[in-house]
Amino acid sequence: MREMAKASDLLEWYDRHSRDLPWRISPSARARGVQPDPYRVWLSEIMLQQTTVAAVKSYFETFTSRWPTVQDLADARDEDVMAAWAGLGYYARARNLLKCARVVRDEFGGVFPADHAALLTLPGVGPYTAAAISAIAFDLPEVVVDGNVERVMARLFDEHTPLPAAKPILTGYAASLTPDQRPGDYAQAVMDLGATICTPKRPACGLCPWRRSCASWAVGTPADLPKKTPKKKKPTRFGIAYLARRVDGAFLLERRPDSGLLGGMLGWPGSDWGEDAPQDAPPIRAEWKTVPAEARHTFTHFHLRLMVKTALVPMERQPDRGHFLSPEEFSPSDLPTVMRKAFDVSR
Ligand code: ADE
Repeated sequence: MREMAKASDLLEWYDRHSRDLPWRISPSARARGVQPDPYRVWLSEIMLQQTTVAAVKSYFETFTSRWPTVQDLADARDEDVMAAWAGLGYYARARNLLKCARVVRDEFGGVFPADHAALLTLPGVGPYTAAAISAIAFDLPEVVVDGNVERVMARLFDEHTPLPAAKPILTGYAASLTPDQRPGDYAQAVMDLGATICTPKRPACGLCPWRRSCASWAVGTPADLPKKTPKKKKPTRFGIAYLARRVDGAFLLERRPDSGLLGGMLGWPGSDWGEDAPQDAPPIRAEWKTVPAEARHTFTHFHLRLMVKTALVPMERQPDRGHFLSPEEFSPSDLPTVMRKAFDVSR
């Protein structure tokens, strides 16, 4: 008879193998009583949504050195935060980040609440993030379920129901294992197991502390789980990006409306993005040249292929849309990735 997986076995493994992450308090420091800073835990969890640890690290370092406390972030200028977020994607997260920092400053006296229900009232904080902050920052026994945890649970319990229908079942399994002792370390331990051992493609079962309790290991099929309902194929959309440079070096840019894709971000003026050939609608009168290469980018729900047009314009000419920003006021690294790609193909 296989023994039920024990949180304590995973915690022992975590004590030896936890990843060293800039927002993390190591298990030994935690044991000495060092407490995590809820601001850093919250910031890391927002950044990590839909993004990898590798992509997040440098952004996390930049944000926390520039805005060391939630008060500093709340006081920041919107455009500075949006520019610092550029490249991380899912820009609604950055707008909610600022809203949330200001709610914590104005309504919670600059102190993050510990309990799940209060955390859920914060902008951009959903059930996953509320549970993760309660567990990691405040060591409360919350059930934390992200994609890593779903994969680990599906394998441990040999659950063949496909995602997303399997979510409540996998959450139930996760709840059955969540301990009262060291729940914060435990939440991070399951994530680390999923990221380093119980990986999507070739899990390293030989190194897994839960191997002997793992129902799919017993039948030899961990790599086939979790099952997933096939996704619909993404459509392709087409558009034009207009890169106008004035003779003094200033670029013509336009801030996108707060709602919608890339909301609040700076970008090149462009056409609408549709499934048919785009309408040419340059933002300023000029001799436009088409760049021989397209900029391609994939969003959550579609592929985008952008035709890139460039023009050099004289000092006195006024644009119909957007405004000129000098190289001192603007760097291409302030742009979201798709706009950055359009810039790169234009050079
Ligand atoms: N993914 C999401 N949250 C994480 C965390 N706190 N540590 C490691 N990976 C994570």
